[in-house]
Amino acid sequence: MKILVTGGLGFIGSHTVVELQNEGYEVIIVDNLSNTSLSVLDGIQNITGKVPAFEKLDLREKEKVQEFFKRHHDISGVIHFAASKAVGESVENPLLYYENNINALVYVLQELQQKQEANFIFSSSCTVYGQAETMPITENASIQTAMSPYGNTKQIGEEIITDTAKVTNINAILLRYFNPIGAHPSTEIGELPIGVPQNLVPFITQTGFGLRKELAVYGDDYPTPDGTAVRDYIHVVDLAKAHVIALQRLLNKKNTAKVETFNLGTGTGSSVLEVIHSFEKVSGKKLPYKIVGRREGDITSAYANTDKANDVLGWKAQSTLEEAMASAWKWEQKIRS
Ligand code: UD1
Repeated sequence: MKILVTGGLGFIGSHTVVELQNEGYEVIIVDNLSNTSLSVLDGIQNITGKVPAFEKLDLREKEKVQEFFKRHHDISGVIHFAASKAVGESVENPLLYYENNINALVYVLQELQQKQEANFIFSSSCTVYGQAETMPITENASIQTAMSPYGNTKQIGEEIITDTAKVTNINAILLRYFNPIGAHPSTEIGELPIGVPQNLVPFITQTGFGLRKELAVYGDDYPTPDGTAVRDYIHVVDLAKAHVIALQRLLNKKNTAKVETFNLGTGTGSSVLEVIHSFEKVSGKKLPYKIVGRREGDITSAYANTDKANDVLGWKAQSTLEEAMASAWKWEQKIRS
């Protein structure tokens, strides 16, 4: 069965391609290479022994999207990762985010709605919950006004898919990720942040390696046990496996609604200081850091209630924070060697 993975050379996309190939799916990747490199294809091949088909394609180019689907009329499912994901950049350049994350989504759905049947998995984010009132966060928690254009594109994306699925043959699963971290245990693929990382874990591993002087911890006056903000850090391989299970649910027609939504996290919240200590334990290095003021737009706490994913998908994250940090550290050392 042929599965299209958009953004398949990115961080989560590439790990998902590996899991799809391991399950015997034929994968075709499209990616515009805006935030990744072609060498990721070699990494995937080194792990699975199979080269996925790849086409460089920018999904904002509507005619090219139409032409792509004409050539590939036998696609059984689409996992749509292709999107921009930097919160700060989205505030600076909102139209880039609306064009990249919304136009591209619309063009892909326009092609899928012409099919007899289409299965669609969407990369969404726990950012749609904003600061939820109760922890852990269930899928029924209310959606809050987005704090950035990036977050807004995820909310609007979910709405576009829901409206479209109601009146077409498209079945969809919306996957709301918490904080994906880590790398494949083979160290063949991992995260490749361009420039100064905005996310915590790549900043930590780069600092541990000596590329950055020190980590700035954004705030220690949050109402949390140690004062630093709490998140649900999930190993990217666990996250990737959930995509395959969600896709199989659609392919096997096990879904009970046209659109289903699942939180993907571990169910455990970790503070910034706990992440630092975990890094120190697995690396044997002391991490230089200083406490600074809060980062604008940051929330206090977000971790997932994973009951729905556990019960309905039969999926549960397996890796601990330490295992994920160890894989992130191994990856950092490999790409700098
Ligand atoms: C947020 C969004 C997520 C989005 C991601 C993209 C939420 C709940 N999540 O993740 O949907 O995909 O941005 O960037 O809105 N930190 C430091 N120092 C640093 C970097 C981070 O202390 O140098 C702290 C942050 O304040 C935060 C935690 O580490 O408390 C995690 O930060 P980060 O990795 O950027 O992810 P989120 O902000 O949770």
